[in-house]
Amino acid sequence: MTAVGVSFEAPVPWFPLPARLAVLLSGRGSNFMALADACESGALPARIVLVLSDRAEAAGLARARARGLEAAVEERGGETRAAHEERLGARIEAAGADVVCLAGFMRILSPAFVARFERRVVNVHPSLLPAFPGLEAQRQAFEHGVKVAGATVHLVDAGTDTGPIAGQEAVAVGPGDDADRLAARILEAEHRLYPATLAALLAGGWSIEGRRLRFPDPRSAEA
Ligand code: GAR
Repeated sequence: MTAVGVSFEAPVPWFPLPARLAVLLSGRGSNFMALADACESGALPARIVLVLSDRAEAAGLARARARGLEAAVEERGGETRAAHEERLGARIEAAGADVVCLAGFMRILSPAFVARFERRVVNVHPSLLPAFPGLEAQRQAFEHGVKVAGATVHLVDAGTDTGPIAGQEAVAVGPGDDADRLAARILEAEHRLYPATLAALLAGGWSIEGRRLRFPDPRSAEA
């Protein structure tokens, strides 16, 4: 089911630093802003070379332009998914991006697209995967009655929200919560988790065994 190979070892660093990021979004772009802030502060050794959306009215595009970043639109018209993804892929390659960061990009990418950028597509999802994949994960979790919700950053494989998990942050569900209040706290967790996990990935030295992504043991660096 997974397109990610059984074993893989990332070089140190994963890409020459600062790494070049393409951020794909469909909406307000708050996770994009968290990544951009982390690039600016130096917490994330990367720079955003492209912000790309499938929706011309995505608020994240205006936020990107306001920061002086290249912001492009590739909407899907009446064409096939393959033709649309070809245009997305061409834009990403033309920008010379090392890593593709999905930040509220609300399309399922085909196995062909994932293979084109193999192990280089990272996603943030508003649940503790593998629970509640797909749309409205926060509402799904709240309505299921979970006591602990959260956010996940993972590499993207050919499935929907199934790729190797790189980072998770738990969010407790309080007695006074409703789905919207819970979603707001999960979003705050996403804004911490995404830049921090991406920084750990960029540092490299991690491996994938089966579907487990293993970061290097910090103690081995001290030896
Ligand atoms: C975020 O909660 C993100 O995790 C979610 O969309 C929201 C985008 O918000 N993504 C998914 O559900 C993908 N399956 P943002 O545009 O403010 O970053």
